[in-house]
Amino acid sequence: MSKADLIVGLQWGDEGKGKIVDHMAQTHDYVCRFAGGHNAGHTIVIGDKTYALHLIPSGVLNPEAKNIVGNGVVLSPKDFIKEMEQFDDLEGRLFLSDKAQVLFPYHALIDQARERMKGDMAIGTTGKGIGPAYGDKVARVGHRLGELHHPEKLTAKIMAFFEMNQPVFDAMGVPAPIETELLAELKGYKKVLAPFITDTTQLMWKILDDSKKVLLEGAQGTMLDIDHGTYPYVTSSTTVSAGACSGLGINPKDIGKVTGIAKAYCTRVGNGPFPSEDFGVQGDKLRENGHEFGTTTGRPRRCGWFDVVAMRHAVRVNGVDQVALMKLDVLDGFDEVKVCIAYEVEGKEIDYVPYDLEDATPVYKSFPGWEKTEGIRTFDDLPETARSYILALEEMIGTKMGIISTSPEREDTIIR
Ligand code: GDP
Ligand code: IMO
Ligand code: MG
Repeated sequence: MSKADLIVGLQWGDEGKGKIVDHMAQTHDYVCRFAGGHNAGHTIVIGDKTYALHLIPSGVLNPEAKNIVGNGVVLSPKDFIKEMEQFDDLEGRLFLSDKAQVLFPYHALIDQARERMKGDMAIGTTGKGIGPAYGDKVARVGHRLGELHHPEKLTAKIMAFFEMNQPVFDAMGVPAPIETELLAELKGYKKVLAPFITDTTQLMWKILDDSKKVLLEGAQGTMLDIDHGTYPYVTSSTTVSAGACSGLGINPKDIGKVTGIAKAYCTRVGNGPFPSEDFGVQGDKLRENGHEFGTTTGRPRRCGWFDVVAMRHAVRVNGVDQVALMKLDVLDGFDEVKVCIAYEVEGKEIDYVPYDLEDATPVYKSFPGWEKTEGIRTFDDLPETARSYILALEEMIGTKMGIISTSPEREDTIIR
């Protein structure tokens, strides 16, 4: 019997989870995705090759590792099949839960229509249909991957659903599918995906019972969690540790070490509160140094400073055992590096994440900068000021930074 290692994002996503999952996948037998969909974008650099993954677990780049997509995800067959085309060795090492929800093209149309209708209040979603797909799941009008085995039956259900809700779809400008086209599309999905669809809950239990080394791969980040993030400016899934249990059919006792992934600064893509955002030249410099443009949508990411308050919140919610501090090199060449150590809300200083972060302004502490950390592979070789910065962060969040990353490359990783 083994316990699964878990990786979760601690900020607003894009922390560099892909790099660490890929790194850890070298020593794991299985990598399992438990939440989200193709809204996620994980860039992984191996030598001169760069891979962009969305829903296929980042373990896929290790030919020895097997990959499981759990019931907690929403899977767009069309986009997933496109992602699969990058690899020709998936047979026997990719398993898709028959209970995962199917994300259809109409979910994306609804997502985009809702965003348009919201105007100024738009969430800034990826427009991929994530919210509507999870909405249908919870409203119990969604469809599961296992239904792809019977395309005729599934077509009839979808057509009936559109008929029943025609006025709503008309108002959003979302056309009903054409029955013959829908059937042909579903048959096409079945042809490609059916060999991979299975009961992944049983599989999870078996591999844990057989003492396999299992890695659970979170997507998005804690501040985007449907409950614990900056609602309503969040995604529609449980991105925190707890989501790994419901999203894969395992129990809390099956989870071993939790590694939380955090950047040495902060970014956010999309709208919503971000207290430590830097609107000036320093924010621009972070974006430029860190190439902070989305993997999924190409949007420029909003940039700012490491937020200790949000980090303590994330460490506690997720039960983080160690933090992987990513992109330290992006702070190279700054005279000073700022850290948000508290928020000011209505004239009062607070040290926790309140119900609403909208009016929180940051209280900063500054640290002296450093010249260069890029490519450094041992802690002792880091400049003294960079080491002091890391030790100060550790002390403030009360958690060890066991992994430090100094470039996108697999090997430029300090393990302490
Ligand atoms: P994820 O969504 O959490 O997997 O992160 P993304 O892949 O969306 O964004 C992280 C980006 O930073 C990717 O382009 C990585 O190649 C890159 N990256 C990861 N670690 C480092 C690092 O230590 N330094 C630098 N400069 N880039 C990194
Ligand atoms: P990874 O796994 C960063 C953000 C979107 C938007 C909000 C809701 O790469 O870290 P959605 O399409 O999910 O309904 O959009 O969530 N978002 C992400 N931001 N990284 C991600 O994933 C994200 N997935 C969703 O930008 O603000
Ligand atoms: Mg990403």
